[in-house]
Amino acid sequence: MAATTMLKVDAIRADFPTLRREFHGKPVVYLDSGASSLKPLQVIRAEADFYENHYANVHRGIYQLSEEATDLFEAAREKVAKFVGARETRELILTRGTTESLNLLAYSLGEALSPGDEVVGTVMEHHSNQVPWQMLKRRRRTVLKHVGVDDEGYLKMDELDKLVTDRTKVVTVTHVSNVLGTVNPIKEIAKVAHDHGALCIVDGAQSTPHMAVDVKALGCDFFAFSGHKMCGPSGIGGLWGRAEILERMEPFLGGGDMIREVHLQESKWNELPYKFEAGTPNIAGTIGLGAAADYLSAVGMDWVARHDEELIAYGMKRLREQPGLRLLGPQDPKRHAGVLSFWLDFAHPHDIAQVMDTEAVCVRAGHHCAMPVNERFGVPATTRASVYLYNTQADLEAMVGAIEKVRRLFSR
Ligand SMILES: Cc1ncc(COP(=O)(O)O)c(C=O)c1O
Repeated sequence: MAATTMLKVDAIRADFPTLRREFHGKPVVYLDSGASSLKPLQVIRAEADFYENHYANVHRGIYQLSEEATDLFEAAREKVAKFVGARETRELILTRGTTESLNLLAYSLGEALSPGDEVVGTVMEHHSNQVPWQMLKRRRRTVLKHVGVDDEGYLKMDELDKLVTDRTKVVTVTHVSNVLGTVNPIKEIAKVAHDHGALCIVDGAQSTPHMAVDVKALGCDFFAFSGHKMCGPSGIGGLWGRAEILERMEPFLGGGDMIREVHLQESKWNELPYKFEAGTPNIAGTIGLGAAADYLSAVGMDWVARHDEELIAYGMKRLREQPGLRLLGPQDPKRHAGVLSFWLDFAHPHDIAQVMDTEAVCVRAGHHCAMPVNERFGVPATTRASVYLYNTQADLEAMVGAIEKVRRLFSR
């Protein structure tokens, strides 16, 4: 199987020490990067170097060690801001990840909403982009609407046009579905939102690791993402937002770095981005995330995207050849990124994942924290293989071999 990609996958694989592991006497085949990616040595070492040589709290000390820590921390913020195409570094708020970023938005934007104001989401959102808006609905009596998904896994854009009205304040949508792999037309969606005076929020958890992201070109107002899915550490991620909107918003959490002045009855908030960063931040995680942005930029995000697309096209072809297998999501690999979710009519996804584990193949089974989209397709769960820059066609062949083992064990 000749790889056609220009990505030097062998060299990349050497950067990821976890790929040296073996289970049951077989080399690990990691096909769960959609849940969390493996980490390259460059990221691991950046964190270790910070703890070994530069550790102190940031923004507070006037001694050299703290100044070094602050410089490393802010330099990392700058790298991450550039990685997503932010105009200004102050537009990049560091959070624990996509979930926290979306909760921040639902809370802080929600403070300005009134009963009857509308939020439009979609059926394919991750729970992180469903639940915060349901919580807001309870708090502020807002109205929540959802754009449906067609049989191939595309958003019904005609429904979007009808659901977004002049009462709509927020349109929130995932860039890439973590179950279907659908790549959504954000520019078009943002235009519909803006034509009605609404804000457009994008959940970038599954796109940021896999394609070059430029928030300016996307035309959205907010963009949320997680470090751990893009070669970075867990517990760190970001929220990009337009400065002029962030300036007007209420803070989310109180305390620590987010204040300028505190009095007994009231306080004044700090400037951006610190207004949204209460408490001691995940300093080492931020530095690790900066190293992940450097790593992916050095590889080249266009190459990563091309490599992913080739693997998705190959995986789709091989999975479609399997009798009794239903593959969810768009058929066009150009509009299908990162994940391959499927249902086998002779075994439950949990059994499939367990058999795959005996072959050292790591896949995910379940609803992938997106129950409404599973319901939409009439499946309680799926088996999901997700690919990344260190995967090869041989990894997908190992998965297909494991499916054949499942068939031998379960079909009768
Ligand atoms: C589309 C999507 N949104 C949000 C999340 C939540 O990300 P995190 O758990 O890093 O906050 C995920 C994680 O799987 C996801 O795939």
